Amino acid sequence: MRTHYCGQVTEALISSEVTVCGWVHHRRDHGGVIFIDLRDREGVLQVVFDPDTAEAFARAERVRSEYVLRVTGRVRARPAGTVNPDLPTGQIEVLGHELEILNAAETPPFQLDDEHVHEDVRLRHRVVDLRRPVMQRNLLLRAKVASAARRFLDENGFVEIETPMLTKATPEGARDYLVPSRTHPGKFFALPQSPQLFKQLLMVAGFDRYYQIVRCFRDEDLRADRQPEFTQIDIETSFMGADDVRGLMEHLVRTMFSQAINVELPSAFPVLTYADAMRRFGSDKPDLRVKLELTELTDVMGDVDFKVFKGATELKDGRVAALRVPHGGELPRSEIDGYTDFVKIYGAKGLAYIKVNDLGAGRDGLQSPIVKNLHDAALKEILARTGAQNGDVIFFGADRGKIVNDALGALRTKIGHSEFARKHGLMEDGWKPVWVVDFPMFEYDEDADRYAAAHHPFTSPMDEHLALLTTDPGQCLAKAYDLALNGWEIGGGSVRIHRADIQQQVFNALRIGEEEAQQKFGFLLDALKYGAPPHAGIAFGLDRIATLMTGAGSIRDVIAFPKTQTAACPLTEAPAEVSEAQMRELSLRPRKPANA
Ligand code: AMO
Ligand code: AMP
Repeated sequence: MRTHYCGQVTEALISSEVTVCGWVHHRRDHGGVIFIDLRDREGVLQVVFDPDTAEAFARAERVRSEYVLRVTGRVRARPAGTVNPDLPTGQIEVLGHELEILNAAETPPFQLDDEHVHEDVRLRHRVVDLRRPVMQRNLLLRAKVASAARRFLDENGFVEIETPMLTKATPEGARDYLVPSRTHPGKFFALPQSPQLFKQLLMVAGFDRYYQIVRCFRDEDLRADRQPEFTQIDIETSFMGADDVRGLMEHLVRTMFSQAINVELPSAFPVLTYADAMRRFGSDKPDLRVKLELTELTDVMGDVDFKVFKGATELKDGRVAALRVPHGGELPRSEIDGYTDFVKIYGAKGLAYIKVNDLGAGRDGLQSPIVKNLHDAALKEILARTGAQNGDVIFFGADRGKIVNDALGALRTKIGHSEFARKHGLMEDGWKPVWVVDFPMFEYDEDADRYAAAHHPFTSPMDEHLALLTTDPGQCLAKAYDLALNGWEIGGGSVRIHRADIQQQVFNALRIGEEEAQQKFGFLLDALKYGAPPHAGIAFGLDRIATLMTGAGSIRDVIAFPKTQTAACPLTEAPAEVSEAQMRELSLRPRKPANA
C-alpha cells in the first residue's frame, strides 16, 4: 500500500513520488491550501493539497484528526522560512495529488499533544494514548533493549527455555496470584513470582546457560517502579562463580545501553559491599550521581547529654549518622521543616540539624537546636568527620539503624535530585551503575519473630560463614549481588546452593522443617541429590531498564497495557466478576471481603 513510512521521507527523496499511509495528526486550512501532518510509527510528515488537484483537495477538506489516509504525492523542499529543524522530515513536504480515506475516526477523547491528560484517562483510552509519539518511542526502545539482550545471550551460548506460568508458589517474598484448578477442586496454581526454581532445575538438567525474557507476577504494594506483572531478563549459568557472572552481565548491560541508546557505560562497574552502601549512602541501591554521603557518629554519642543521640547508641541496632549538605545554609527554614516531615515517612522521629555559619567562632558560629546538649569533644568530632565548611548544614538521624538509613538515605536522594543540588554541583549527569555485593543472608522479621531470607532461600551463604547458619544467622553473609543504576535496582542475583545438606541448613535457619521443605520444595531438594552443578544467576528488570533509558517517570510508560496503582486495568476493566456457573465449576464460593 505504501512506498515509505512517513518518518522516512527526507531530502534524499526530493522530486520522487512517494505513497505513505498514516493518521491525521493535524490538519490546517491556510486560505486555499490544506496542510495535513500525517503520522505513523516512524514520524510525522507534512502533506500539502492545493485546489489544482480538485478531487484530492475536496477529500482533504473532509478529513479530521485521526482519520486514516493513504496519500501519493511528490516530495519537494519546503519553502524558505517554513523549515522545521526539530523534525527529521522538517526540510521537506509532499505535494499530494492522490488521497484515499481508508477510515474515518470519531473525535478522540483527548488531544494527542496534550501533555496533561490524567493517567486514568490515558489508560482507559490506551489505544489513543499509545499513538502518541512519545509512547511509540518508548515501546520501540523497549523492544530494542529486549532484542539487544537476546542477541547478546544467543551469541554467548545461552539457551532460551520457557518455564511454566501455572505453577506452585515460589518464595520470592511477595504475595502470589492464584489460579483455581477446575480438575483438582479446592487446589490452586500460583503464577510465578520468578522462574527461580525452574532455572535451577535446568542447570541440574545440564543446559549450562539458560535465559528467558519472562513475565513475573507479584501481588505487592505498587509504586512508580513496580507492577504486579513485570518482565525479567532471567539468566542462569553453571560452573561460574559470582565474579564471572558479574563480569559477563556487565557486558550484557553495556551492550543493551550501547545498542539501544548509544550510551557507553564504564568498562568496569564499581562494586560496593552492602555494609559500605548502607554506611555511606543509607541504601542498597544508592544513586551515585548524588555527591552526598552519610557520616558515622554512633561511636561519638555514647556520653552526650542529648537523649535522642545517646539513646540511639544504647539500642541493639542503634545508629547516629549525619548528612552534610554543602551550601545547605542557603536552604530556607521552610525547606528544612519540609525535610523534617519527609523523614517521618520513614519512621524518623525528627531531623536535628546544625547550620555551620562560622567555624572560627566556636559554638557561636553554629546555629542549631541541639548543640547546647553536645559537649565540645563531640562537636569537634562532628565537624571534623563531616568535613564541615562555612555555609553548610548538617542533618542528623538517630534511631534504630534501619530507620536512620531509610530516612537519611531518602533525604540524600531527595536533596540530590533538587534544583539546589544541581546549582551547587551536588548532582552529576549521566549513568552510574554500581554492584552491591555481600548482602546478609537473612533479615529478622519482628512480627513473625524469626529470620526471613533477604534474597531467596536458595542463595548460597559465603563459604566462611557456613558455621554461622546455626550459631548466628544474623551475621551470615550471602553470595548475592544486585545491580543498581542511578538509584534504581535493575537486577539481582546470587550463587545458589547446590548441596542438599546446606540447603537443609538454610531451611533450618529459616525454621522451615524437613517436612515443610519437602512439601514446598521437594522437587528442588530431590534434584540437588542427582548431581547438581555449582550454579549462579541473575534477573534484570526489563521494565525498569527501559524506564531509565527513556527517562519516563513510571514503568507504566514503557508497558503497553499496564495496571493502575490498585492493580486494575481500566481498559479491560480487569479484574472482573465471573458467573455463578464458572465459580461452581471451579468449586469456589464467594465470600464477603473481611472488611466489607
Ligand atoms: P528479584 O526479586 O530481585 O530477583 O527480581 C529481579 C529484578 O526484577 C525487577 N523487579 C520488578 N520490576 C517491576 N515490578 C516489580 N514488581 C518488580 N520486582 C522485581 C527488579 C529486580 O532487580 N529470582 C531472582 C533473581 C535471581 O536470583 O536470579 C529474582 O526474582 O529490577
Ligand atoms: P527535641 O529535643 O525532641 O525537641 O528534638 C530536638 C531536635 O532533634 C529537633 O530538631 C528534632 O527534629 C530532632 N530530633 C528528634 N528526634 C530525632 C531523631 N530520632 N533523629 C534525629 N533528630 C531528631
